[in-house]
Amino acid sequence: MGRKKISIIGAGFVGATAAHWAAAKELGDIVLVDILEGIPQGKALDLYEASPIEGFDSNVIGTSGYDETRGSDIVIITSGVPRKPGMSREDLLGINRRIIESVVSQVLERSPNTILMMVTNPLDTMTYLAFKKSGLPRERVIGMAGILDTARFRAFIAMELGVSVEDIQALLLGGHGDEMVPLPRYTTVSGIPLSQLLSREKIDQLVDRTRKGGGEIVNLLKTGSAFYAPSAGVIQMAEAVLKDKKRLLPCCVYLNGEYGLKDICFGVPVKLGAKGVESIIELELTEDEKALVAKSAESVKKSITELKL
Ligand SMILES: NC(=O)c1ccc[n+]([C@@H]2O[C@H](COP(=O)([O-])OP(=O)(O)OC[C@H]3O[C@@H](n4cnc5c(N)ncnc54)[C@H](O)[C@@H]3O)[C@@H](O)[C@H]2O)c1
Repeated sequence: MGRKKISIIGAGFVGATAAHWAAAKELGDIVLVDILEGIPQGKALDLYEASPIEGFDSNVIGTSGYDETRGSDIVIITSGVPRKPGMSREDLLGINRRIIESVVSQVLERSPNTILMMVTNPLDTMTYLAFKKSGLPRERVIGMAGILDTARFRAFIAMELGVSVEDIQALLLGGHGDEMVPLPRYTTVSGIPLSQLLSREKIDQLVDRTRKGGGEIVNLLKTGSAFYAPSAGVIQMAEAVLKDKKRLLPCCVYLNGEYGLKDICFGVPVKLGAKGVESIIELELTEDEKALVAKSAESVKKSITELKL
């Protein structure tokens, strides 16, 4: 049995850091692809040179073509422009759609059996675009956003309570925009409902900070967007698939009636295993939560409509 193969398209901040997490976890061999000549090659060689120190056996190669990606088990797509202060994720749609269309076709030509994991923004719309352009079953086109957004919520709760991040379980639905729907009702600290540990007002503040969490980092960095947590998020998805872990994680997936939504890619809890999305979990929601989901879905639909597919 050979090693698994993970290709990462886009060797920028998110892509290169994803390669780092994947190598550190020894998930398989890694191919880093970018249009910029020298960047993927240099970053891949540098990462491989860390392997004797860190003790991971993963080959890491960088390339500006696609032949080296042939036969990938997983392809992570991070190529595209990130936002700058004052920009919304939607502002990236025009430029990133052209990049995603060309990347998806080149990837699929060489790895027709792969699982695509999308990171490029606007995330839900780019996942939809990749799903439609690739012709793959929906189980094999998965967007990363919910893991990041719940990680932010969990981090803020841990900071507020002064407890281990490990003890915080949280869930979130919806699109990867400021209308995402964190679900405090499904959030616990070692099994204790969050509402028993924090006031309603404090929870609302943390939810609000989570919704604007991407913008908070963009405003601090000024030249790009978050990358440590986003890349860790997509590697958690890759690990769940490569190790057939059957993890329950919030991911962006094409819906066909679930949550009353059709023909949209949207963040929902799914079971991730070797086949990709192995099932979608439908939660019972209150009327208020349903209204928030509908609002989030409306803004994702609006963005998808702009693709004019
Ligand atoms: N889903 C999420 O939660 C999430 C989180 C953070 C960032 N993002 C998105 O991820 C994307 C990447 O962010 P980043 O910070 O790594 O940006 P970056 O600018 O550091 O890297 C993007 C890379 O893509 C490359 N690229 C552009 N066109 C390409 C093509 N046709 N083929 C191959 N490579 C190409 C660029 O040369 C660049 O190196 C952005 O769209 C950003 O908005 C999403």
